[in-house]
Amino acid sequence: MPSVALTLRLADEHDTETLASALALAWMQHPEPRLLITLDGDLGAGKTTFARAFLRALGVQGRIKSPSFSLLEEYKLDIPDLQLKGTLQTSAYHIDLYRFSDPHEWDDSGLRDVVGGAGVSMIEWPQRAQGLLPLADLSVHLEPDGEQRRCTVRAWTEQGQRLARALPEGLKSG
Ligand SMILES: Nc1ncnc2c1ncn2[C@@H]1O[C@H](COP(=O)(O)OP(=O)(O)OP(=O)(O)O)[C@@H](O)[C@H]1O
Ligand SMILES: [Mg+2]
Repeated sequence: MPSVALTLRLADEHDTETLASALALAWMQHPEPRLLITLDGDLGAGKTTFARAFLRALGVQGRIKSPSFSLLEEYKLDIPDLQLKGTLQTSAYHIDLYRFSDPHEWDDSGLRDVVGGAGVSMIEWPQRAQGLLPLADLSVHLEPDGEQRRCTVRAWTEQGQRLARALPEGLKSG
């Protein structure tokens, strides 16, 4: 069971972007080498919207394609590391498992090594590899509520809890 679970109401796309950037900025304050966030919810729930805003906050420029067809998009990151007074060079992996027809495609995809190594990974449609993914630091569930979205953020690790605690109070009302 997660020790932190927050329910948020996201009135529009901008609220989803605010949530994602706040989590990304919290990670950048103390960038642990490995971070995994799963994003689940139906078609059009806002998973890619969240991932794009998270990547932008990490400094990714240029086009951010949805990985619905490619399965994986990688972005090189240069994160200012305040502790080392230098730059942390790492990668972000934006993954979408929608096209998996069987969870065991996870085993053949090579993604286990990608997600298990250093870097920030965000996975859309994690349920397509149910039971095979490593423990996520945070799971983000989005569901339509009229034109708005109801969002549940759950923290499953200490790192996840630290990020969840950094969310702005204004978002925690829902
Ligand atoms: N609160 C909200 N958060 C995110 N998106 C919203 C919100 N309200 C409306 N939207 C709209 O919903 C759509 C979400 O599309 P997006 O591609 O992010 O969904 P997705 O969950 O990645 O879908 P898919 O499963 O097809 O990959 C966008 O058109 C966005 O403008
Ligand atoms: Mg998507």
